[in-house]
Formats: sequence, structure tokens, C-alpha cells
Amino acid sequence: MPLKIIRNDITKIPCDAVVNAANRLLAGGGGVDGAIHRAAGQELYDACSKLGGCPTGKAKITDGFNMPCKYIIHTVGPVWRGGDKNEPELLASCYRESLILAKEYKCESVAFPLISAGAYGYPKEEALHIAVSEISRFLMKNEMTVYIVVYDSECFQTSKKLLSDVEEYIDQHYIDEHFTPRNSTVFYDEPPSKLNIMERMLGAKGLTGRADSHSCRSCHLPCEEKTVEPDLNEMLDSLDESFSQMLLRKIDEKGMTDVQCYKKANIDRKLFSKIRSNINYKPSKQTVLAFAIALELSLDETRDMLMKAGFALSHSSKFDVIIEYFIKNKRYDIFEINEVLFSFDQLMLGS
Ligand code: APR
Repeated sequence: MPLKIIRNDITKIPCDAVVNAANRLLAGGGGVDGAIHRAAGQELYDACSKLGGCPTGKAKITDGFNMPCKYIIHTVGPVWRGGDKNEPELLASCYRESLILAKEYKCESVAFPLISAGAYGYPKEEALHIAVSEISRFLMKNEMTVYIVVYDSECFQTSKKLLSDVEEYIDQHYIDEHFTPRNSTVFYDEPPSKLNIMERMLGAKGLTGRADSHSCRSCHLPCEEKTVEPDLNEMLDSLDESFSQMLLRKIDEKGMTDVQCYKKANIDRKLFSKIRSNINYKPSKQTVLAFAIALELSLDETRDMLMKAGFALSHSSKFDVIIEYFIKNKRYDIFEINEVLFSFDQLMLGS
């Protein structure tokens, strides 16, 4: 997956490069810097001491030593001084410079902590927002898997206004199973059963079977009624459009290229090729929704695409209600959606 926000200790992430929130002397310190130095060992101190420091907004690279990564990229974030001392640009530059370096060293996966969001005092939600926008801009043009690693004890929020709007929407639409009386009607879509699909196909295609003669209950007279005896082979020959076929058709209809679509969907190239080359590919629900968002589908079209893969949107699921909120409000920025899903402890969209 190209961009993923995860909760973990960054020293435990196996990837090509881990980014360190360092200071200008590259002399080690507390926070993530201290954790990385402890995990990497004395050799990292020695390697850093030969680098001649690093200016704010820039990045330098060393080996990973005892860390489970090949490289450690050291970048120096700005100290927060109220926001009008060029902090946003300097912080964005940390992500850019680190990613350029990672690319130069042919890294396929990179993990970032929230640079400047600890000792340097940058407000966490703004720091996260800059991280997400800068990384996603880079990923639009480059193939790489990037993790933003948020530390266990941290609680952060995305835009408070957006979160409260989503919360309100959830309150109005989310049906918590525990509060739904067993016998009441629950209004949610169910994935169609095989039987439903067969019934629909028979209905739609007007398939008929042999004529059967029997007594009709309502008129009490023998009557001729066509009963249906489906021909399985015929039905299998006339299956509906698959998920993969619908996806490719929609990409064409929207005038997008494949690359534009899978990048916007936060899906990696390999997964997209699998879907493209296998018309019967069975994607996960997160993958289908990622494409629905990238293609800016309406709610009905999204439901249709989900159904092709055997899924539905349900008001019994918080995840589904959040997705519905964004689609109804035509907010199709997958990274914004993922930030909100993350805040609600839900799975995120993408590969
Ligand atoms: N894994 C992931 N994230 C972590 C970890 C960890 N093991 N430890 C801390 N963090 C988080 C913090 O919670 C914070 O959100 O990393 C983010 C960055 O915090 P700091 O490490 O304090 O980095 P920063 O704000 O950029 O300050 C850099 O602190 O340690 C010194 O030498 C460093 O002087 C420099 C300054």
C-alpha cells in the first residue's frame, strides 16, 4: 500500500528506511531520536558524528546498523514558534528531502514518525496533515510504500470541524447492533445471495423452463403456468460484468489513465496489474472503496461496484457510514478519508 498510517514503535518497523526526527547536530537526543539510537547501537552515533550536522528542513542518510531497516534517514524538523516562522514549509521540506534521499538509495518502503510533533512542539494534527499531503504528492509520481508511524500513547485528531461533522453523521446513521431490537426491521443492504442473483438473472433475461400443468390455488382449475428450471450452463455463460471489468470501464468513462486512477486510489501498481489481468479478481472491500473514491463515484455507483465484488454498505458498520458521509458530501480525497478512518480506529482505504 503506498501510504499507510499505523500505530507502532518506529524502531520495530521492518522496511528499507526509517526516518529519524533528529537535531541539527545529529548528536542523538530523546523521543524518536533516542529510541532509534538505542535500537541501532553505538555505530549509529559514530556514523552520525561524521556527517557534519544537518540544517533544518534537510536530510542525511546512514546505515540502519542494528535496526530492522537498511537505512536511517535523519531529518531536522522546525521548532514550532507559532506558525509564522516558515514552519510549514520547513516541515514539508523534511518529508520531501527524506523521500528524495530514499528514492536515490532505491528504497521501496519508508517509515516516518511525525516529525517536529514531539519536543519541537508542532501541533500534531497540522504536522500529520503536512506529512500526508507531502507524502501523497510524492507518491503521485513515484512508486514506494510509505508509513506514517504514530506512537502508541499519542492521541491526535484531524480537522476538528470535519471530525465533528463525521461524528454527527455517524450518530444519525449508525445502527449499533446492541441497540437494535432483534425483531425490528434493519434497513441495510445485504450482499446478494447466490439465490438472489439467480432470481435476478432469470427475471431480467426472461428465462423460462418447461411448461407445467397443475391446479391453480386461486381459480381451482387446472391451469398452465410456466415454472422455471434454470439451465446452469446458460446462466454461467451470461454472468454480469465483473468488478475488474466495471473498474476498467469506469476508468475509461472518466477519461482517466490507469496510473492516475490507482495512484488516486492509494493502490500500488502490482495490485492494479493483478486486477487488470484477471477479470475474476476478488478484491477486498477497502480496495473496491478506494477505487470508488478515486473514480468519484456516486453512492449508487459505489454500491454497484461493491456488489460486483460481493460487498455492500451497511448502516451497522461505522466504517461504512464514514465512507457514505464522504461520498454523499462529494469529498473524494482518499488521504483525508484515511485520516478520519484512522481517528475512528477503522481500517483504511487502499491496497
Ligand atoms: N516511534 C514512533 N514515534 C515516536 C517514537 C517511536 N519510538 N518515539 C516518539 N515518537 C513520536 C513522538 O510522540 C512525536 O509525535 O515522534 C514524534 C516526534 O517527536 P520527537 O521525537 O520529540 O521529535 P521532534 O518533535 O522532531 O523533536 C526533535 O527531539 O529527541 C530530540 O534530538 C531530537 O532535538 C531533537 C528533537
